[in-house]
Amino acid sequence: ATVWVPCDAAAVSVGADDVAHALTAAGATVRRNGSRGMLWLEPLVEVETPTGRIGFANVTPEQVGALLSGELHDTGQDVGVVDEHPWLARQHRVSFARVGVIEPTDLGAYREHGGLAGLERALALAPTDVVREVTDSGLRGRGGAGFPAGVKWETVRTAEADVKFVCCNADEGDSGTFADRMLIEGDPFTLIEGMTIAAVAVGATEGFVYLRSEYPHAIRTLRRAVDIAYAHGVLGASVLGSGHRFDLEVRVGAGAYICGEETSMLDSLEGRRGEVRAKPPIPALQGLFGRPTLVNNVLTLAAVPTVLADGGEAYAALGTGRSRGTQVFQLGGNVARGGIVEADFGISLRELVDDFGGGTASGRPVKAVQVGGPLGAYLPPAQFDLPMDYEAFAAANAMVGHGGVVVFDESMDAGAMARFAMEFCAKESCGKCTPCRVGSTRGVEVIDRIRAGTHREANLVLLDDLCTTMTKGSLCAMGGLTPMPVRSALEHWPEDFGAPATASA
Ligand code: NAI
Ligand code: SF4
Repeated sequence: ATVWVPCDAAAVSVGADDVAHALTAAGATVRRNGSRGMLWLEPLVEVETPTGRIGFANVTPEQVGALLSGELHDTGQDVGVVDEHPWLARQHRVSFARVGVIEPTDLGAYREHGGLAGLERALALAPTDVVREVTDSGLRGRGGAGFPAGVKWETVRTAEADVKFVCCNADEGDSGTFADRMLIEGDPFTLIEGMTIAAVAVGATEGFVYLRSEYPHAIRTLRRAVDIAYAHGVLGASVLGSGHRFDLEVRVGAGAYICGEETSMLDSLEGRRGEVRAKPPIPALQGLFGRPTLVNNVLTLAAVPTVLADGGEAYAALGTGRSRGTQVFQLGGNVARGGIVEADFGISLRELVDDFGGGTASGRPVKAVQVGGPLGAYLPPAQFDLPMDYEAFAAANAMVGHGGVVVFDESMDAGAMARFAMEFCAKESCGKCTPCRVGSTRGVEVIDRIRAGTHREANLVLLDDLCTTMTKGSLCAMGGLTPMPVRSALEHWPEDFGAPATASA
């Protein structure tokens, strides 16, 4: 029998490697795929049959014999043909189309499943036309800021310089986000192809992926994929024989959240301590080593092969308002069914949390979700009809960010979470500007006083003032966005900040 066992870190963390070894020892042909993103089912083992790959959930090494003899059909672990699983069938997998389907570093399978078609088309077009496709697609930065990718690409393309760079930001530091990692571990050639198309479009000859050290599996897989891409002429002196040179290197960060901010990342890539640079100049004009540099997140670049293969208009046909295409949402926290949900923009928070997520893992009512990482707002169920749309979220004083959705049940203490936001900022601040460096520490103290009921009203005014100062006066999003979770927590759950009746002042 041919059996697929994910090699994704999430699956490995719950025993997938042991299952794979047991299967090999039992005589099965084992193939390793990425994760389908249905994390509550991992290790999700798939047995090839004439009707498709049949999935078995939460398989243990001890169950391997039963799996191979067909006895596991009766334990409730049989989830049927994986491609037809409702959780997957309801999604619209575009960037993640191959993740979990193929072996991550099988270039032949990558091609068979539509890979390299976008790059081939890009090489046949003039760079201006490649950029036009990206502009027409409406693709916006998936790292969180949602800046139009086409505008950024055109800025780099038209910049004059002896050398230009493409840098992929894979320093996925947001709590509750894991899509960059899963794409790299499950389908790294998509990222490599996206970066190569970008290089051809903007005239860059060198590229770097800045990957966080906390992702050892992703580092290994991507490095192997880069080697294979070189060996097959996808990277190197003449990309697919076109005469375009593009060299790509994987660089590993050292664990600072702020190095996910693009200018800190560039400092770090240059071998210096990661510290935020003032903008302007924007990296698109003066980035790595002062040269024009295209910096995009993993998910932005991973959307590019499809945009080129199918045309910008096809991608722009998906989504809502000015949020075009799909977003790869990541469901985590206290949720019954966590994992990857790729869907067109416009899907509601309720569909994600209730329909896909199935409510909380604890079974208690949902109290809040935090969308967009540790700097994102906490939203109560009353706001769950919000469509996933950059503008709709901004209007609700929230942000879509990198697509992380973290669920909390009623035991969550919103005051403690607000304090944590300030504490996190104090810990991760690069220290360059005062509102963030000092403000975050003062923020922890003020929230402690409010929660203790010490001069509560005066300290609430002080906290509001501090939040305004941090929002308006910080150099980057770290200090600038920390007030977002704080303010949302205070607005929706004032009772978690100490009831006024018990205040001593
Ligand atoms: P930003 O709005 O300053 O910039 C967005 C991008 O557009 C940058 O690459 C910038 O260089 C570029 N840009 C701006 N004006 C331009 C122009 N005229 N021409 C060409 N390019 C231009 O936002 P920033 O600080 O880069 O990102 C903040 C966001 O990062 C937050 O909204 C948050 O969602 C997200 N974030 C993501 C994390 C993650 O792990 N993915 C972690 C923390 C924050
Ligand atoms: Fe550094 Fe914080 Fe200022 Fe950003 S806001 S530059 S992280 S001190």
